[in-house]
Amino acid sequence: MKMSRMLAGIKCVVFLMVLIFQWTHARGDTEVSCVYMENCTLPCSYEGADVVIHWHQVSAGNLPVHSFFHNQDQPGNSAQRFKGRASTFKDQISRGNASVLLTGVKVQDEARYRCYTSTINGNMESFINLKTDAPVHKVDVYQGENGITCRSEGIYPKPELIWSTSPPSSLTFKNTTTVNQTEQQLYNISSSLILSGSDHDLNFSCTVSTRRNRKSVAFLKMPSQDVLEYENTIPCSPSNITLSNLIWRFNHSQLILNGTVTNYTVSEKWKQHVKKLSESGSLTLQDIS
Ligand SMILES: *[C@@H]1O[C@H](CO)[C@@H](O)[C@H](O)[C@H]1NC(C)=O
Ligand SMILES: *[C@@H]1O[C@H](CO)[C@@H](O)[C@H](O)[C@H]1NC(C)=O
Ligand SMILES: *[C@@H]1O[C@H](CO)[C@@H](O)[C@H](O)[C@H]1NC(C)=O
Ligand SMILES: *[C@@H]1O[C@H](CO)[C@@H](O)[C@H](O)[C@H]1NC(C)=O
Ligand SMILES: *[C@@H]1O[C@H](CO)[C@@H](O)[C@H](O)[C@H]1NC(C)=O
Ligand SMILES: *[C@@H]1O[C@H](CO)[C@@H](O)[C@H](O)[C@H]1NC(C)=O
Ligand SMILES: *[C@@H]1O[C@H](CO)[C@@H](O)[C@H](O)[C@H]1NC(C)=O
Ligand SMILES: *[C@@H]1O[C@H](CO)[C@@H](O)[C@H](O)[C@H]1NC(C)=O
Ligand SMILES: *[C@@H]1O[C@H](CO)[C@@H](O)[C@H](O)[C@H]1NC(C)=O
Ligand SMILES: *[C@@H]1O[C@H](CO)[C@@H](O)[C@H](O)[C@H]1NC(C)=O
Repeated sequence: MKMSRMLAGIKCVVFLMVLIFQWTHARGDTEVSCVYMENCTLPCSYEGADVVIHWHQVSAGNLPVHSFFHNQDQPGNSAQRFKGRASTFKDQISRGNASVLLTGVKVQDEARYRCYTSTINGNMESFINLKTDAPVHKVDVYQGENGITCRSEGIYPKPELIWSTSPPSSLTFKNTTTVNQTEQQLYNISSSLILSGSDHDLNFSCTVSTRRNRKSVAFLKMPSQDVLEYENTIPCSPSNITLSNLIWRFNHSQLILNGTVTNYTVSEKWKQHVKKLSESGSLTLQDIS
């Protein structure tokens, strides 16, 4: 009888532990997406007074990020990597806000963080999963001696680069893509398409994409110099994406137009050549040489 009671007690404890374990896991981590080199807030809250706050990076080891106690920030407690980069929101602490502001987010900051708070009401822990994103800023396409090269830099996580043609072509072009990682662990990506003589009537487009965003650049391989075209349409995004902001440039620098597909401004120099901008962003030029 006694024995079975004891067993029941043990079962009950085990059951509780399983429950607690499942509860902490079911709650899950809060995902926070931060932009490379920008400031980012890792959220955390508590209840009670006279709070002690300890933030740690917990993915690899247990690196102290920032502490707050005796009613003030304790910068001396931070690991070298976080020195001068982490702080609480002073005016928010009394409102139960234990969030920490991390400045100049790096790729190395991508990790799991624990927020530990302790008050007379008890201790609490919560977890944040920080992801760093360095979005695609600029995609350049330029024509070299025997091919076209598409290049984009400073991206995280590892980007993808896709070539497409318009009209869609069954031809496959020899292309070589290289990806390098910089010291800051950002990615540079570059891809070259080797063209042959038979493909001068295709529009090419290069799309570089990563977790946070994607950008496309179109490139019209001009027919041989002696052929003058009265009118020409250069497609913008053969891949199916919604355009928010759009810039058409000539020769990488000259601005042709800028804006959205419904509201854009054409530069003075190009006014006489821009005939139309389609809903998909394709540009129709006239009287061009
Ligand atoms: C980032 O935070 C620091 C410290 O609070 C502040 O000085 C700086 O202006 C912030 N930068 C941006 C871009 O908000
Ligand atoms: C804490 O305060 C900061 C700065 O005002 C705010 O951005 C954040 O949302 C607050 N977080 C919580 C959990 O209240
Ligand atoms: C680039 O090369 C890959 C394989 O190397 C091929 O599948 C793809 O079709 C090529 N892209 C173009 C635009 O030709
Ligand atoms: C990546 O691109 C940047 C900007 O052009 C350049 O300074 C850097 O050397 C490149 N790094 C690598 C590893 O290719
Ligand atoms: C990567 O490095 C190699 C060798 O230094 C270079 O040839 C290539 O152009 C680089 N690629 C990018 C995307 O910077
Ligand atoms: C370029 O694309 C446009 C729109 O998709 C198409 O009308 C035009 O014929 C293409 N131009 C060439 C040279 O293939
Ligand atoms: C483009 O996307 C929209 C909505 O996501 C879809 O309805 C449409 O069929 C897609 N078009 C193509 C050509 O894939
Ligand atoms: C294109 O740009 C290059 C330098 O970036 C310049 O030398 C060339 O003259 C430009 N071409 C035209 C047609 O403007
Ligand atoms: C495009 O227009 C926006 C707003 O009208 C402006 O802020 C931006 O600087 C322009 N970009 C270029 C490249 O002119
Ligand atoms: C078009 O854009 C300009 C500048 O970006 C803005 O001032 C204007 O209100 C916009 N017009 C419409 C109809 O949205």
